[in-house]
Amino acid sequence: MRYLILSDIHANLEALEKCLELARGKYQKVLCLGDLVGYGPDPNAVVEMMRRTASVVIRGNHDKACCGMMNVDDFNPWARQATYWTREMLSPKHIAFLRQLAPGPCTMPGFEMVHGSVENEDQYIIEPAEAIPALRSQSVQLVFFGHTHLQGGFLLSRAGVFQKISGGSRASGHILTLDLEDGTRYLINPGSVGQPRDGNWRAAFAIFDETKRRIDFYRTEYDLATTQEKMSQARLPEPLIQRLEFGR
Ligand SMILES: [Fe+2]
Repeated sequence: MRYLILSDIHANLEALEKCLELARGKYQKVLCLGDLVGYGPDPNAVVEMMRRTASVVIRGNHDKACCGMMNVDDFNPWARQATYWTREMLSPKHIAFLRQLAPGPCTMPGFEMVHGSVENEDQYIIEPAEAIPALRSQSVQLVFFGHTHLQGGFLLSRAGVFQKISGGSRASGHILTLDLEDGTRYLINPGSVGQPRDGNWRAAFAIFDETKRRIDFYRTEYDLATTQEKMSQARLPEPLIQRLEFGR
């Protein structure tokens, strides 16, 4: 089985379409690690497309916030404003869909899916201080996570060697192949489709070939100007419009 792993789409339809285009023919099932909506200008179209294409979707913090299941006190003012806008825009059936999304961890054959971490769906795993305990406590070899919008992840070898996995900051197309080794544990982030924050504005995703035990990371350019124009039309906050082109 080959899986297309998507995360943090954030209502960016142009980015999502390009990811599906570049991944075409390379996968059999689509999995999503949450944050379908929030920030971007196309919440309904993105939810619609994911309902059509994804086999498994778990919820992210923005999904919870945008369907009213979580308050936005902890969000910065721009994220808060975008959440209120998204709540207004979402159709009732898509709100109902977001409300019934399961939290992670979701157990799949030979791996797990989470939004933040196995312990806490809202935790950010960014530094070794967060990644090492998470790797030590995970009960499966491979966990896919999102939430940080940083493509790559971490590994811990049988000998206890910790390593960060990163795809480089300016690349496009196929970025990196990772062959899983027996005895090594992996925490893998496919990157963010709709709002990357690793200094590379290009939409990110990963393909997991379960039979070959291989993960391939990708980036693709998309029509950023159109997404930004839609955000301007919707009067979404200017800093959210600008950050897309810097990948921040
Ligand atoms: Fe996110």
